[in-house]
Amino acid sequence: MCRADDWPGPERALALSLSSCLARTFSRFENAVALAAQTLKIQAGVPALVLAPMEGVTDASMRALLSEVGGFTFCVAEFLRISQEAPGASVFLRHVPELAEGGRTSAGLPVQVQLLGGDPDKLARGAAVAIRAGARAVDLNFGCPARTVNRHDGGATLLKYPERIGAIVAAVRAAVPAPYPVSAKLRLGWDDMEAIHVNAERAVAGGASWLTIHARTKMQGYRPPAYWKPIGQVRRRQGVPVVANGEIWSLDDLRRCRDETGCQHFMLGRGALANPALARAAAHELGMSAGGADPSLGAAAWQTLILRLVTISTARGFPPRCIVGRIKQWLRLAHGAGTLPWFDAIKAETELGPLLRRLRALAAAEPRQALDPVA
Ligand SMILES: Cc1cc2nc3c(=O)[nH]c(=O)nc-3n(C[C@H](O)[C@H](O)[C@H](O)COP(=O)(O)O)c2cc1C
Repeated sequence: MCRADDWPGPERALALSLSSCLARTFSRFENAVALAAQTLKIQAGVPALVLAPMEGVTDASMRALLSEVGGFTFCVAEFLRISQEAPGASVFLRHVPELAEGGRTSAGLPVQVQLLGGDPDKLARGAAVAIRAGARAVDLNFGCPARTVNRHDGGATLLKYPERIGAIVAAVRAAVPAPYPVSAKLRLGWDDMEAIHVNAERAVAGGASWLTIHARTKMQGYRPPAYWKPIGQVRRRQGVPVVANGEIWSLDDLRRCRDETGCQHFMLGRGALANPALARAAAHELGMSAGGADPSLGAAAWQTLILRLVTISTARGFPPRCIVGRIKQWLRLAHGAGTLPWFDAIKAETELGPLLRRLRALAAAEPRQALDPVA
């Protein structure tokens, strides 16, 4: 784990002095009011926006940042693999530190714990520990395409065995107290998009409170396009809410996904990293909040966001080299959408100070970019 004691230095001072920018930029008070009403569940008839789990990127610092920006109903933490005996509560608290704070980010956004594995009993025991550690909902990962994960009987591998999906959901459901939701996150299949129907049916029969469906098979990886239509078919056939996920990068994508699926519930992944203000605009589009255009953020707004991430990560004890790694991982994914023309100018930086100075210069060269992109 990449942790260290607090670090001094001019970068830190710069980051701290600018930490209030984000509050001005994204109107923290307005978000706080909205967040107070957030609950960790998906309900028929109530639109919702979920921040996708993205291992290595949406850690607690990123979840804190994006919840300050606003728009989301809740977020899902990256998967915790349950391969041997159930981990102790301390493992959950390290993996999802928000559990020690009522299961919410510092800005109040609820956080759902996600488990990954192939053994129903171990997962059930893991889920029970998660609840004791403070989790208020558990999600089960049936979509991870990583080779090592799949080789060890986890993630998307389970999509080949509908009966095992049903058994896992049923075992976890039985281990988690009734008021707390248990959900399942599926891809369309391993290599066959039709598999979603039987897998969804088994997950619902096992007691899943809702399904999140990433609109691609494991073999389709993360390559566009996403195939949203089957999500709509599952939504119409199954009696539980369905969260549509995959390739939502803009409001236009959201509208097309809504038209194709009939869903009111959406999960945003890379699109929220490429445009951290997308969720606010999407929440407005779904009638969840007042205000919010579809802004494209300039270097100045990005500088504000990055400085805020530095402040949050520093307060959590991460050293500069680790923070630089996280920032670049984030920007690399964000740049996948081609929206960061300035990324090339900073991607070679390996030290936090020079990276922040370069960002500041880029932002200064772009005075027309207001610091209030969502006004
Ligand atoms: C870097 C990265 C890490 C991911 N980690 C997880 C994870 O821990 N658990 C999970 O269920 N999905 C994970 N996913 C999948 C996303 O949650 C989401 O389903 C996928 O990115 C499709 O949504 P998008 O097109 O909006 O990005 C990950 C995706 C990426 C790109």
